[in-house]
Amino acid sequence: MTQNNNNDLLKDVNVCNNSLAIHNLSVLRDKDTPPEIFKVATKRLAYLILSDAVKDLPLKAIKVMTPLEEADAQILSPDYEIIIAPILRAALTLSQVLEDLLPTAKVYHIGLYRDEETLKPVRYYNKLPEKLSNPSKTKVFVLDPMFATGGSAIEAVNIFKELGIPEENICFVSLIAAPEGIHKFRKFHKQVKLVTGVVDKRLNDKGYIMPGLGDAGDRTFNTVK
Ligand code: PRP
Ligand code: URA
Repeated sequence: MTQNNNNDLLKDVNVCNNSLAIHNLSVLRDKDTPPEIFKVATKRLAYLILSDAVKDLPLKAIKVMTPLEEADAQILSPDYEIIIAPILRAALTLSQVLEDLLPTAKVYHIGLYRDEETLKPVRYYNKLPEKLSNPSKTKVFVLDPMFATGGSAIEAVNIFKELGIPEENICFVSLIAAPEGIHKFRKFHKQVKLVTGVVDKRLNDKGYIMPGLGDAGDRTFNTVK
């Protein structure tokens, strides 16, 4: 991919430029960071990135009485249902953070793993209903810390598009993305909002993000072999 193509791709991705996010990303990258600190740093980074992801949720104007007088105010629009969709298993930490921010959201876990030989996503768990009551009034946040080849992201978004949710209502949130993954994703899902902590250099020949942070699931859950 040429440098120009990469720059065009980056324009299309919301990268969190917060200093605290950059700091916590460095903690995650460090191979000597132990799992308990890895989890805390993931939460801090996720909080900052997710704050970017939710910033355009639709609002509704209301009036509230302060202790002094009536005020014009706004609340999250009750016309929209919000879905949080963590891809198992590494996104569970991100999900905890977003569930705190959006306590009335529905949480649908998506079971996908990446076949280590083919690098293709394999579906193994999905508790979504067969039909949603109002797909055009549903906002979805699909979560996965690592956006590598893009296979898992493409497949997870497919699940929601199959339920009739328009692309503009879907946001895919990651901590680290690879240019190759973003490029492939855009061939399938042009309007889905992409929010991430950083776009790294490239993938290696095993589909790992470089420099990345290694295997996010194993480092989070202390299952590094
Ligand atoms: C990792 C990661 C993503 C996927 C990204 O999961 O959490 O889900 O790989 O790779 P891709 O963009 O090439 O599809 P993994 O399959 O290792 O499962 P795990 O979270 O259960 O460890
Ligand atoms: N999954 C991970 O956990 N890390 C990578 O770099 C790629 C896929």
